Amino acid sequence: MRPSLKIIFTTCLIILTSSFIFGQKTIYGNLNIIPQPKSIELAEGIFRLNHKTKIIYDPQFHFSFDPFQIFKKLYEEKSGFPLMITDKSSEDDPRNKQDILVDMNQSIAEEDYILKISKENVRITSSTAQGAFYAFQTLRQIMSLDQLPKAHDQHRQWNLQASLITDGPRYSYRGLHLDVARHFQPVDFIKKYIDRISFYKMNTFHWHLTDDQGWRIEIKKYPKLQEIAAWRDETLVGHYSDFPVTYDGIKYGGFYTHEEIRDVVKYASERGVTIIPEIEMPGHAQAALAAYPELGCTPGPFKVAGTWGVFEDVFCPNEITFTFLENVLEEVMTLFPSKYIHIGGDECPKNRWNESAYCQQLMKKEGLKNASELQSYFIRRIENYVNSKGRQIIGWDEILDGGLAPNATVMSWRGKEGGIAAAKLGNDVIMTPGSPCYLDHYQADPAFEPVAIGGFNPIEKVYEFDPMPEGLSEKEQTHILGGQGNVWTEYIPTSSHVEYMAYPRAIALAEALWTPRTEKDWSHFYSKLTEHFVTLDSMKTNYSASVVQPQVILESHPEGLSLTWKSELDRPLQNIYITSDTLSHDWRLVDSGDTTWLRSPGKIFYKSETYTKAYKYSVSSEKNENHPKPKVSPVNGISYNPSKAIAASISSSSKPSERYPGRGGIKALTDGLRGNKFFNGQDWCAWDGDPVVIDIRFDTMTEIDSITMGILSSPQAWIYLPESVLVKATTDLETYQYIGTFDLSGTPAGRTDASLRLANTKVMALRLSILPLQKIPSGMPGAGHAAWAFIDEISIY
Ligand code: ACM
Repeated sequence: MRPSLKIIFTTCLIILTSSFIFGQKTIYGNLNIIPQPKSIELAEGIFRLNHKTKIIYDPQFHFSFDPFQIFKKLYEEKSGFPLMITDKSSEDDPRNKQDILVDMNQSIAEEDYILKISKENVRITSSTAQGAFYAFQTLRQIMSLDQLPKAHDQHRQWNLQASLITDGPRYSYRGLHLDVARHFQPVDFIKKYIDRISFYKMNTFHWHLTDDQGWRIEIKKYPKLQEIAAWRDETLVGHYSDFPVTYDGIKYGGFYTHEEIRDVVKYASERGVTIIPEIEMPGHAQAALAAYPELGCTPGPFKVAGTWGVFEDVFCPNEITFTFLENVLEEVMTLFPSKYIHIGGDECPKNRWNESAYCQQLMKKEGLKNASELQSYFIRRIENYVNSKGRQIIGWDEILDGGLAPNATVMSWRGKEGGIAAAKLGNDVIMTPGSPCYLDHYQADPAFEPVAIGGFNPIEKVYEFDPMPEGLSEKEQTHILGGQGNVWTEYIPTSSHVEYMAYPRAIALAEALWTPRTEKDWSHFYSKLTEHFVTLDSMKTNYSASVVQPQVILESHPEGLSLTWKSELDRPLQNIYITSDTLSHDWRLVDSGDTTWLRSPGKIFYKSETYTKAYKYSVSSEKNENHPKPKVSPVNGISYNPSKAIAASISSSSKPSERYPGRGGIKALTDGLRGNKFFNGQDWCAWDGDPVVIDIRFDTMTEIDSITMGILSSPQAWIYLPESVLVKATTDLETYQYIGTFDLSGTPAGRTDASLRLANTKVMALRLSILPLQKIPSGMPGAGHAAWAFIDEISIY
């Protein structure tokens, strides 16, 4: 065969093979980028990314980590092609038309990047590995790499819309925290958690490693931390406020070895994430004390805690403790290269210090006026040590009490006030106020959520979060470094549950901390989020879909209960269905769609006077072929039990507290719907302090023979049965006569019903005079304060 013919033959073969292999699947890019970039400008044209594409980077770069590795691995897996990475100097033809070029520009801020997609190439510009890495994280989202199945034998190419993305974070500190002391998480999950942090361009993982319930980091100098402090005998069952208190009797614990920690730190650094370890002191130290009782102010013995809360046994500020903590921190600092070491500092009761002769003497010697100043002395000594190793401390905002350590960064959790005070003192601040940054709080109606610690931080509130408080000068504002979401795990036992609480709220927080205020837009974020749910599904990452689930509005009427499904999203592609198979014959569809599905917005009406009914709904996005199945809610139960009071009108001498206002106010007390035992749904009304008078008035003379009141006792939460509840009645709406007093003696703690029996009394109206407990007994949480009185229902039969 002559040479020229051979060439022709080979060329034909390549062309044929190319069209066979590469012509198979084209993926179209999207701009559903979270967090929303600073600026996106669309341009003319399409960039075709295919098997020829290489990454060519500027040889001037001295990367602190490899910014291409994560992208390369994922790209190769999902495209079916190898991705070559080279620096320009070794490249024969740097003007290759289908490449991704990475240029260095030192005038660009550390975490910023420019991503320019044009017909010819993709051009990334940054000054650091972090900036370049974020550009590739953006490209990864544009290419939907995470949503695609593995390439296997097929090959893909991408058509990307020409655009110019100029991007960089609004805040330099963007953190997510995880408490592994209350519930331990395996290393693989920690890595997955870091993956999501990095995917959403957060840059810090705050690893809460020690607490009363477990010490989770190996310290070679103190083996009893591994043998004793890492394990608790048993764990509280249910919520802290439940009564009676029960434990599971199961030994629980675990810790991370040095080797595991080094591996995780390296893993994080390859993804642009810094890990800040937290070693709690002087409070939340009971696990350490159980292992080394000489660290306490009393001889003990101490136990690793099996329940939640704040404990009085804390580190004693003696020399044994300081030596111990310095040795611990020394090992911690060899494992974690972070600039910051978190030393806790929150929730340290001072009883033991006040009772200790040693502490009194120390205070005298050091000229400290009170135990708060002693805490400040403690923190300053630790700060000196940490600073001597070239590192800085972060502490929760209690480290302000008694005087702030000079170089400390304050993590403001009890609102923003601590952070404001610290910024005014010239110290740096990370804002993580309980509302809305505590992601262990409820995100949807507690009646249908897994048990949580309390609170209510729905995603909209998280999205609106802005760490910058009002009223700081320009200079003071520079001290607000950013914000953080916290995932405390008292009520979060599993990895999947951690994800359920964290996502999507942490994703909203990522955008809140990254994106300029002017570019933030809830409804745009919402539409991107539904796309990201597909990504999370592909990543096998759990999340709460409560934000796309329709809100259920319950309304109690004299004729029955209505349920209305409402979605803030009025999107044609987002349909809400209520399955009629869960609707038994006594549910009447008021506003029905077709016979199988009730299409939202719709309403169903429930008439009969019986108990729990269930409903189920689903949300579907018909467009999305990756997500063909509608997401179906769990079957939710409603307990509805109306009494004669439902037809009466109700009023009160003072409104219930804004924190516990009831559904539609005081009407919640006669609507036939009972509160949950976590007292944070819409069914409870609560008052503290002053007496309250409740009037219930019928339309006509009504015969009654008993009154039942749903009340709550939860002393840990300052909730007590009222001191007294007196009942008067009237037949003429003018003169009221005393008809009885509820007997509250011997009523057990927890949620309970108290009843008053009457002998067929005819009334036009009833008047209940309720006196909340005026003073919480000594020795109890909140001693000396007025107690809360909680009522969820007044049923009249
Ligand atoms: C905290 O939530 N105790 C910092």
